Amino acid sequence: MSAPLLEVEDLRVRLRTPRGTAHVVNGLGYTVGRGETVAVVGESGSGKSVSVLALLGLLPARVATVTGAARLDGEDLLTMSPERLREVRGPGVGMVFQDPMTSLNPVLTIGRQLVEGIRAHGEVSKAEARERAAGLLAEVGLPDPQRALDRYPHELSGGMRQRVVIAIALSNNPSLLIADEATTALDVTVQAQILDLVAELQAEHGTGVIWITHDLGVVAGIADRVLVMYGGRCVEDGTVDDVLERPAHPYTRGLLGALPDLATSDDGDLATVPGVPPAPTDLPPGCVFWPRCPVRSDPRCATEQPPLAIVPTSHRDIGGGGLVHRAATWCEEGSRG
Ligand SMILES: Nc1ncnc2c1ncn2[C@@H]1O[C@H](COP(=O)(O)OP(=O)(O)O)[C@@H](O)[C@H]1O
Ligand SMILES: [Mg+2]
Repeated sequence: MSAPLLEVEDLRVRLRTPRGTAHVVNGLGYTVGRGETVAVVGESGSGKSVSVLALLGLLPARVATVTGAARLDGEDLLTMSPERLREVRGPGVGMVFQDPMTSLNPVLTIGRQLVEGIRAHGEVSKAEARERAAGLLAEVGLPDPQRALDRYPHELSGGMRQRVVIAIALSNNPSLLIADEATTALDVTVQAQILDLVAELQAEHGTGVIWITHDLGVVAGIADRVLVMYGGRCVEDGTVDDVLERPAHPYTRGLLGALPDLATSDDGDLATVPGVPPAPTDLPPGCVFWPRCPVRSDPRCATEQPPLAIVPTSHRDIGGGGLVHRAATWCEEGSRG
């Protein structure tokens, strides 16, 4: 069995804030196999964005302390030199964040940004790169791609800009694609088009994908695995079938509207769990979910973090990433009983 494409191990991120040290990511570990799609879900503030920004060295060094390891093809992203990281980010990792303006240069035309990206990492002529850029814009559903190449970001709508960012991220056939609420602002038809395009890229190039979303339809539609984050930790990580059909953790059951008496969502988004998440500057001892947990099956939860169990899954072997289903077993017993 080959090593997974990405192995994140004991990732921790602390941020210095005016209110003290925020423990935003607290020992996160997961893998992404080649060609595998891992959906990351969890309430706002659970550390999803910070955890992926940390992987790519995109947190401000003045305030952020990042520890752990994140090996992409065996090479640790967290310890490599800034030069090497820049080299890896282009062809190795494509990123799409919720706000396209954070990724686009406002003073360069769309064409220039796409062409530069394509040429920076491969031996192609300007004309070839421009052709490929127009092709990509067509694939992400931009009308009149040739004309769009000569436009500036501010001349396009938000949805168009996001499609441009997605085209840029896909332009180098990255081995890993990270999308953070990337299609949230797009209409469903365009979103479906983009999800298809990503699936094609995966089939063709074995791209691993981390897809952060609150949309259960997207999770069910594209994910092989689901990672559920709470309080900067993984509370559950399993195959999409296991997590959606047989959620083990009370928090996951809450998000899926699967616990009786909890609010359910009827718009296809994750449900709301009563109560508020803990402040990362003031995490509770024990299980981070304990203060809100409707189950509280085990007295140890108040003082100890329930360990994640590693058990075999029935899922096909996808690059080593899909071999285990991890869930907090204490919680599972309680919420099933
Ligand atoms: N630059 C920052 N400075 C201080 N705190 C931050 C910063 N960025 C994020 N946080 C805090 O880190 C926590 C996790 O944020 P984030 O990763 O954005 O959550 P998510 O993406 O899951 O909604 C939140 O409590 C947020 O307030
Ligand atoms: Mg976020």
